[in-house]
Amino acid sequence: MTDRYAVIGNPISHSKSPLIHAQFARQTGQDLIYEAISAPLDGFRDTVLALRDEGYRGMNVTVPFKFDAFQLATQLTVRAQAAQAVNTLKFGGTEIIGDNTDGAGLVADIERNLGFILQGKRVLLMGAGGAAYGVVLPLLTAGAIITVANRTEDKAYQLAALFSAHGPIQGSSYIALAGSQFDCVINATSSSLAGALPPLPRGESASSFSSSPDASFVIEKNAKCGGIFASHALAYDMMYGKETPFLVFAKEQGAARLADGLGMLVEQAAESFFLWRDIHPDTAAVIANLRLI
Ligand code: ATR
Repeated sequence: MTDRYAVIGNPISHSKSPLIHAQFARQTGQDLIYEAISAPLDGFRDTVLALRDEGYRGMNVTVPFKFDAFQLATQLTVRAQAAQAVNTLKFGGTEIIGDNTDGAGLVADIERNLGFILQGKRVLLMGAGGAAYGVVLPLLTAGAIITVANRTEDKAYQLAALFSAHGPIQGSSYIALAGSQFDCVINATSSSLAGALPPLPRGESASSFSSSPDASFVIEKNAKCGGIFASHALAYDMMYGKETPFLVFAKEQGAARLADGLGMLVEQAAESFFLWRDIHPDTAAVIANLRLI
């Protein structure tokens, strides 16, 4: 019998997950169907339990239900516990296993697809909401040295304190970032959804320096001084689908590489697929296909 899975959210019609999992299933010869299902905002639990009773084998969970899924799970993986959010459910008898594959998806995209090794790298993580919590532990496990900055400063300090036992992490305001440089800057805020840019300190351009009357030094044309991006830096926006204000800013400030979150989306899906089916799909082919759509 064909196994059934779904992604559950509200709204959900925009989700690319059915497309991604259909490609994984074709590729690996797995007999399954995967649908997108909307749950009422106050009806996540009832919807999931009804689907499980109908015979569904697992679910992906997206906005705004990741915390509801965290509460519904009867068993949590370590990374779901750390994230305090669940994006993958697996049903087995009376147990509901809750996992969070977002951070593993991000790390896989950065390291495997983009070839950027995180071990020992200075990483600036912007945001201290659900998206940021979901990725901190896998980033620390990969060896990143994290500064987390948030508009509401206290939330950055709280997040850093919570994870400090797992690796090097400190909280910061945006203003206090001036003068620091990072090898990798990750936008885990929801700013891109609103077409906004987090208040990052700007580097000065060469032209504004050379116009200074007492400038007694020469700077390479277009070089940036005092910006947050190290010369080889990767700028990563967890949002995908368009050039975000953050990626435009990063390019202008001299980041060497820019990436949106499409690879992360496919990699987190592959981690869920592995949890359910015990087989790793080929993500590169699926990412390449989605880029064409
Ligand atoms: P998500 O689940 O997407 O993380 P969230 O939990 O509501 O959503 O968190 C949104 C994050 O984006 C927060 O860190 C928020 O900063 P505040 O805690 O100060 O609200 C951040 N954010 C949203 N819009 C932003 C903007 N324009 N500039 C900087 N940070 C922004």
